[in-house]
Amino acid sequence: MSVAPQQSRPIRAQILGIRDYFPARVITNKDMEKIVDTNDEWIVERTGIRERRRSETHETPSFMGVEASKKLFADFKIDPLSIDLVVCATITPDYTFPASACLIQNQLGCKNAFAYDLLAACSGFIYGLETARAYVESGRAKRVLLVAAEKMSAILDFQDRQTCILFGDGGAAALIEAGNDKSYIIDSIMRSDGSGAPCLYMPAGGSLKPPSVESVQNREHYVKQEGKSVFKRAVVDMADVCQEILEKNKLTGSDLKLFVPHQANMRIIDAAAERIGLPKEKIAINIDRFGNTTAATIPTALLDAERKGQVKKGDLILIASFGAGFTWGSSLLRY
Ligand code: UT7
Repeated sequence: MSVAPQQSRPIRAQILGIRDYFPARVITNKDMEKIVDTNDEWIVERTGIRERRRSETHETPSFMGVEASKKLFADFKIDPLSIDLVVCATITPDYTFPASACLIQNQLGCKNAFAYDLLAACSGFIYGLETARAYVESGRAKRVLLVAAEKMSAILDFQDRQTCILFGDGGAAALIEAGNDKSYIIDSIMRSDGSGAPCLYMPAGGSLKPPSVESVQNREHYVKQEGKSVFKRAVVDMADVCQEILEKNKLTGSDLKLFVPHQANMRIIDAAAERIGLPKEKIAINIDRFGNTTAATIPTALLDAERKGQVKKGDLILIASFGAGFTWGSSLLRY
């Protein structure tokens, strides 16, 4: 008697859990008024930001990543030796090299993991999630620790009111492993357009323009942004990529339990939410309390929404980002 070969189910990837770390020091808009020519009303109206966190010297991406990961490992009873890969999404690594992911891997005792950094700016978490998903779904890794952490205050020009009021420090760690029918990453769309590089970048400190007295005097080791150009692209591209992934999966905004957009500007978030027809209560927002924490906005806002009871495991959620590169994308998941 012949036995029919068993059809093996494809492996899916899920986010098992997320934990965050924010520096304790709060910088309000009133505090910013003492640093640059700005005011609370302008910042709230144009961005939605009320306050942000500022790191102490030791609070680097690796420090924040380790602290968030320790909470994650304790709460979900994760053995550090069971981690196969550590990815750290950041544009403000502790050092240019080695990777902050290696520092994290060492401090957590993830001795069986290989580790590297991923640079996708505000899309760092979405790109990192896609990376983790690829490793898990292909069977190349069972468990991936994805850290998204930024010390943006290290690269902000506190004489430039157009950028220094926008960003904050913070981080999160997420554990990605094999999913099940209730909890898995359904689909994703990733995009890049390098022609946008000059609109949002740091001119010096890389190999093209190594640090020099001149580069420091010219304040070239700080974030430079053409706010309006980035704004215009972000509004259109983030909304487009949200609509596209919903249509591709034959879903509409009303099927979603939660939308977790990158937190760069409340007006960009509102435009994307309006396009997919989502009411305010279905949007995860933490920009008011933390500003733009670059790679860390999505996991921290998602965790925040979970704590508030806006979302629970198994719910259908959409995450989306737009940032320097340009990089952007969306992912649809059963959380
Ligand atoms: O996360 C990575 C991706 N980044 C983004 O998605 C950010 C996209 N861009 C933005 O969010 C917005 O463009 C900003 C929030 C950066 C700026 O808002 P805006 O509505 O585009 O303002 P603006 O740059 O056109 O400036 C309007 C006015 C100007 O004054 P005048 O020329 O009209 O007299 C600015 O000088 O506001 C002035 N201004 C400020 N006033 C008070 C600019 N920054 C400030 C400030 N406080 N901090």
